[in-house]
Amino acid sequence: MCGIVGYVGHRDALPTLVSGLRQLEYRGYDSAGVAILDEDGLWIRKEVGRVDDLARSLDGAPRSQVGIAHTRWATHGGVTQQNAHPHTDGVGRIALVHNGIIENMVPLVAMLRAEGVVFTSETDTEILPHLIRKAWRGDPVDAVRAALRQVQGTFGVAVMFADHPDIVVVARNGSPLVIGLGDGETIVASDPQAIVALTRRVIHLQDRQMAVIRADGAELHGLYDGRRHDQSVELIDGDYGVADLEGHPHFMLKEIHEQARSISRCLNGRVSREDGNARLGGFEMRPRELVGVQRVVLLGCGTSYHAGMVGAMAIEAMARVSARAEIASEFRYRHPIVSNDTLYLAVSQSGETIDTLGAVQEVQLKGGAVRGIVNVVGSTIARTCGQGVYLHSGPEVAVASTKAFTSQVAAMLTFTLMLARTRNLDLGQGRSVAAELLAIPEKVAALLANPGPIDDVVESVARARYVLFLGRGFSFPVALEGALKLKEVAYVPCEGYPAGEMKHGPIAMIEKGAPVIVVAPRDAQRDKVVSNLREVAARGARIIVIHTQGDDELAQLADIAIPVPSTPDWASPLLTAIPLQLLAYRTGIALGRDIDKPRHLAKSVTVE
Ligand code: G6P
Repeated sequence: MCGIVGYVGHRDALPTLVSGLRQLEYRGYDSAGVAILDEDGLWIRKEVGRVDDLARSLDGAPRSQVGIAHTRWATHGGVTQQNAHPHTDGVGRIALVHNGIIENMVPLVAMLRAEGVVFTSETDTEILPHLIRKAWRGDPVDAVRAALRQVQGTFGVAVMFADHPDIVVVARNGSPLVIGLGDGETIVASDPQAIVALTRRVIHLQDRQMAVIRADGAELHGLYDGRRHDQSVELIDGDYGVADLEGHPHFMLKEIHEQARSISRCLNGRVSREDGNARLGGFEMRPRELVGVQRVVLLGCGTSYHAGMVGAMAIEAMARVSARAEIASEFRYRHPIVSNDTLYLAVSQSGETIDTLGAVQEVQLKGGAVRGIVNVVGSTIARTCGQGVYLHSGPEVAVASTKAFTSQVAAMLTFTLMLARTRNLDLGQGRSVAAELLAIPEKVAALLANPGPIDDVVESVARARYVLFLGRGFSFPVALEGALKLKEVAYVPCEGYPAGEMKHGPIAMIEKGAPVIVVAPRDAQRDKVVSNLREVAARGARIIVIHTQGDDELAQLADIAIPVPSTPDWASPLLTAIPLQLLAYRTGIALGRDIDKPRHLAKSVTVE
């Protein structure tokens, strides 16, 4: 992983490749590289660091009408120039970039070494150009196919050939590739974001497909059987294009501040106060089918899993349907029981997370129905599910997810209302749920306009050896999410815990002055959380509490109290998560972190 761009056409390839890479920067990466052609053959540059570092090394580059480029997020081998892509065959006539992981690396390396191949990197990717060279009989497509037949694992690859300057060959098995058809030029990338500046006419390569890309278009084949495939050209719409900071110093802050709007976009036209109900057209579920749902399982990773936890609690509490959230990477390999009366929901911002996709495929293989709750339009998970709901959050650029979390929660609450109305919620109750939901954007706006004394918390959190986030019920996933944000953007050691479970371990970590952040809106569990708060306070913790406005009794128990507007317990994560996002952001700033592209992290994780 992480980003691929390839180009064949009439213009100088290099600026197009570099600007494509810049569009993929948001996904997170640690090095970048490019291959084009000069008179003698391949011309390659690679740099550790940012695309800017690569761009600085490109002075004197030849003009070439073909090229491939890559941003790498290290999986096999350290972050070094040698390990950056593109990789080449032994004689330097074939260059290749790769997303994914080659699982049978060890025997393939041993086989190639035994035949005298010398490896110049520690990557699994380098196997591929050597395999292509070994299979070379003069036809690039046949050679790529023969090489990939020997490979187990996931890949999206783009290959160029010094001896065939008019083509790039691409192939996909598990890692996305999109081909953009321009006017006398063709571009390929792992993410439409890198394509839209050139064209919106695209072909989504499917798994087990390969394509030969030329200036005048693409020719698709079955990867393993070589059969010619028809093309289905689509026009991509959706909110692509260069996301703009709009005056904010970082995308993370911009996206935090967009939440009133993004939640409102997610709810608009779906939740009806008058009907006391909601409609999610993309779900394609009539009331009769909703009534048949006996169980809901929400699948996701990272922040999306936390949003799924909130969704599961809301579905149980409001619709009285048994529901649980599952970490996709665990679920997919557990040989899960999949039943027809269960509705599976895949929750993903990017729609490309490989573990969530794997979980979707496992459910589908076992005959289950999965619907997507996805932000990126046309992404692999959205397409694989076929049915589902888009979040309409707009592009989320910062690696640490913020506005997608609140929109995912809003979308799941919308679904919960729909489900609950087919069961135990009457019109009046439905109307009051709808009204509470529709009131959220205004409350978020008010909170963001006056987020409370967060700066007073930053200093102690920034120098803490350990920070504990506690919550119960709907606030437990918020505690997990608050801790995840702080790890992601500030690298401060911390964990989120169910407040009631804290005394079974984490309490031993509390030293005098250790910040404990207690998420305690006024809900059914509030009094229990107060007891837990007293338990850590008695051991010298510095208590920071996120509480409902007007809950002065709770505020007085804290060293620092951060109020949020009042809302029903099931909607509280939409508000209580926000001060924690801001706390992580400001702590990251205080510590001089790379906020939008934190170390080691990627926005879209397309490897296991
Ligand atoms: C990565 C991102 C997280 C995200 C997770 C799941 O780890 O850095 O922000 O929550 O993947 O991504 P998804 O796109 O499936 O929501």
